[in-house]
Amino acid sequence: MYQLAGKRILLGVTGGIAAYKAAVLLRLLRKHGADVRVVMTRGAIEFVTPLTFQALSGKPVHTELLDLEAESAMGHIELARWADLILIAPASANFMARFANGFADDLLSTLCLAANIPVIIAPAMNQQMWLNAATQENLEKLKFRGISIIGPAEGDQACGENGPGRLLEAEDIASLTAKSFETNILTGSRVLITAGPTREAIDPVRYISNRSSGKMGYAVAIAAIEAGADVSLISGPVNLPEPERAKVTNVSSTAEMYKAVMSEASRTDIFISAAAVADYSLESISEQKIKKLNDSFELKLKKNPDILSEVSAMQDAPFSVGFAAETENLETNAQAKLHSKKLDMIAANHVGDGQGFDVETNALTIFWKNGQKQLEQAPKTKLARNLINLIADQYNEKNSNKTH
Ligand code: PMT
Repeated sequence: MYQLAGKRILLGVTGGIAAYKAAVLLRLLRKHGADVRVVMTRGAIEFVTPLTFQALSGKPVHTELLDLEAESAMGHIELARWADLILIAPASANFMARFANGFADDLLSTLCLAANIPVIIAPAMNQQMWLNAATQENLEKLKFRGISIIGPAEGDQACGENGPGRLLEAEDIASLTAKSFETNILTGSRVLITAGPTREAIDPVRYISNRSSGKMGYAVAIAAIEAGADVSLISGPVNLPEPERAKVTNVSSTAEMYKAVMSEASRTDIFISAAAVADYSLESISEQKIKKLNDSFELKLKKNPDILSEVSAMQDAPFSVGFAAETENLETNAQAKLHSKKLDMIAANHVGDGQGFDVETNALTIFWKNGQKQLEQAPKTKLARNLINLIADQYNEKNSNKTH
């Protein structure tokens, strides 16, 4: 079973008889949960119509670099930012040559230059073209730049020849694409994550809560799973599918989240607190529904425990990562939380005015003792992967300092 749920894949189709196989691949990627947008080169359009890919992807197909209509829907830079990965299948000899030499004379080659994300290439061409020294040189250049090359396979070719140059089977391309998301940088570590809001009951039907959707925390959980960690997710009430391969504990109030976290914290290597935890709860919860008797009434609140601070204050505390949700003075407030909560790292985001809470994208500024990094506006899934990479780096550094 491939793990492609929620992955945004930009499928590049270039000119060659194998272009028709990209339609099968597209169906397979979508079947396994990926959100796919297709970019076709002019050569590809000679073999298969954009309409085929449009019908199969359910999205407009992108073909032109300078297309005003397409630019107003999703411009090429936005498309490059949207994707988690670019998969080019089939990749022709001509495309490989242009990509290897940094050309940006059509939409696909421009996207490859503009995107700072992994690129996978599945070549398909006549066997002599593949074996030609020029193609082999281009191949080496691309590999050197960290581009993943999958295939080609050997066998009978459409032109009647036999040799290397066949596009890998769609099944193999899909499974290798899924595997490329598995980084294994946290293999063997136990990661505990909180996500979503907490709810503080007022009476049997009402509560105080916040706008957290859980999207950020769930994305972090999925990124940690893909990094090979053993993940436990403590979730407030959200409307999201449970990540596969995570142990999920559903809670409602801060007291329940506190109890669930504390029962696992001592068995945890890394704690990531992405939940929007209510700071206060009701001093007493009314047993009956409160009646509308007076023109106004007051709720008396008491302070909740700070779950993150309690975890980071433990003896042998896990590597502790907080989030800071700020409407002003982002850096000052985040740095203050990093120190007062004795954290190893904090991810600060601007919230309010449609930012941070209950949206698909976010921007994070990450602070730790000796550094900081800005993660620009991007889908939360992508930010989560970058955050997990940073956490893995700092966690490993802290551990290696301990052992020396
Ligand atoms: O869920 P989404 O819709 O995707 O939105 C994501 C998000 C905006 C909720 C997320 O990115 C985020 O910022 N989460 C933290 C929200 C928050 O409570 O921030 P804070 O600055 O109030 O708290 C600082 C840290 O202390 C947080 O890590 C929080 O989890 C933790 N905390 C706070 C209070 C408390 N009683 N216990 C805690 O553990």
